[in-house]
Parts: sequence; C-alpha cells; structure tokens
Amino acid sequence: MINRVAISIMAILLAAGAFAADLTDAQRAAIEERIKPVGESCLEGDNSCGAPAVAAAPAGPRSGEEVYNAACLACHSTGAAGAPKVGDAAAWADRIAKGTDVLYVSGVEGVPGTGMMAKGGCMSCSDEEIHAAVDYMVVNSQ
Ligand code: HEC
Repeated sequence: MINRVAISIMAILLAAGAFAADLTDAQRAAIEERIKPVGESCLEGDNSCGAPAVAAAPAGPRSGEEVYNAACLACHSTGAAGAPKVGDAAAWADRIAKGTDVLYVSGVEGVPGTGMMAKGGCMSCSDEEIHAAVDYMVVNSQ
C-alpha cells in the first residue's frame, strides 16, 4: 500500500517533470512574459527598456562660444555696464596683457565693484566652461 502511494507520487512527479521539460521555447517565453514583474526598473544608460528613462546628462562641458552666447554676450557684445566689447582690441589690450590666468580669475570670481559678477552670473557654468568663454573672448578681441 505504502509502496503504491510512493510509486504514484513518483509517477506524478515524473509526469510533472516531463511536462516542464517538454515546453517549447515559445511556451517558456510566454510563461515568462506572464509571470514577469509588473514594474521593471530601468537603469540609467540602459537604452533597452523603451523610452530613455532619464534625460541624458550634457555630453561634457559646453564650448567657450556656447557659454559666451548664453551668459556673457548680453554685456560683452554691447559694452553694457562698461564691459569691454568682444572684438574691440583696444578695450582688451591692457586686459590681455595681464595674462590669461588673471582673466580666468576675473571670469570665475568677477571683478568686485563692477557689473562683472562671478561667472558673469552663470552659476551653472563650471570653472572650466568660464575659462573656455574667456579664451573665446580673448581670441576674438586681439
Ligand atoms: C552684467 C554684465 C556682464 C556679464 C553678463 C558678463 N560680464 Fe564680464 N565684464 C563686465 C564688466 C562691466 C567688465 C569690466 C570690469 C572692469 O571694470 O574691469 C567685465 C570684464 C570682464 C573680463 C575682464 C576682466 C579683467 O580682469 O580685465 C573678463 C575676462 C570677463 N568680463 C569675462 C566674462 C565672462 C566669461 C562672462 C560670461 C560667463 C562675462 N564676463 C559676463 C560685465 C559683464
């Protein structure tokens, strides 16, 4: 009696095992699709989960020209507030003579007591980007 029960159980288990092993790849995929978690996390940078999950970070520092156009041009193209105009070699000669490092400091820290604020007011600009903008202004003012 006990033996028969054990054999029946074994037979059932074998059948179940056989059933599981007989699944085709398509059936297996269908089952996996049905039992997959509802919310799948999509790691940043993984483009395989449909729409980009996170807006891509800016691809590196902006160029000097981009920073200039966005943050410096308002004053430095018009001479507003007494700013030396880009392209005005005479207005820049003495400044350029101070050396690029001095101008970098002016760009990043501003010139106290003047309209030249720290980073020209561009607080999202990195020091590196400000340096690039200064380079751009100097190159175009010689
Ligand atoms: C609100 C107006 C304004 C904006 C915006 C502005 N500047 Fe200026 N900038 C000035 C003024 C005014 C001066 C002249 C300061 C002085 O009297 O030496 C100046 C001077 C400078 C100088 C020369 C400093 C020196 O030591 O001779 C540099 C370099 C400079 N600006 C870089 C920048 C950069 C880079 C940006 C943009 C990221 C920028 N500025 C945005 C007003 C501005």
